[in-house]
Amino acid sequence: MSAPVPPARAPGSYAVALVCLGNICRSPMADVVLQERLARAGLEDRVSVASCGTGDWHVGHPMDPRAAATLQAAGYDPTRHRAQTLDATWFERFDLLLAMDSANLADVRELRGSTPEPERAMLFRSLDPVDPGGEVPDPYYGGDAGFEEVLAMVERTTDALVRALTDELDRQ
Ligand code: 4NP
Repeated sequence: MSAPVPPARAPGSYAVALVCLGNICRSPMADVVLQERLARAGLEDRVSVASCGTGDWHVGHPMDPRAAATLQAAGYDPTRHRAQTLDATWFERFDLLLAMDSANLADVRELRGSTPEPERAMLFRSLDPVDPGGEVPDPYYGGDAGFEEVLAMVERTTDALVRALTDELDRQ
């Protein structure tokens, strides 16, 4: 039994948002990996995925070149990403909002205002099967090793997320 995700708002499909600060490093990497893993699991028509930043500095930009190179070297296609910003509509459009770090999660909840039941905003790494509950560290101001570390965390957590989404969709 994998760690649970909140129930879908409407049975039969599920929508996941990945949230970081700039939407050019961490959440786009998680977005690309999740979409690839969902396609591999045959779930791409039932689970929709998008990513955004709590900040708007990079709106419309492609991924950070270091994030793109790290993904490309691991066999993923990073080219389709364009940065978006979180706004109130994301709380209506998504069943689950996964924040990369605690500051991102606090910003998500502050923009949202009141706390819904069930809670749909949580840390991405609450689903990490190896070391649950931590943050995905911001690699923006560091070196290439930081992007490798992010990819490793993202891949193992995404595998657990896909298992949890499979369980939730099977339940419906
Ligand atoms: P991200 O990384 O939140 O993983 O996309 C960052 C990207 C840009 C900035 C900070 C973090 N920035 O300050 O521009």
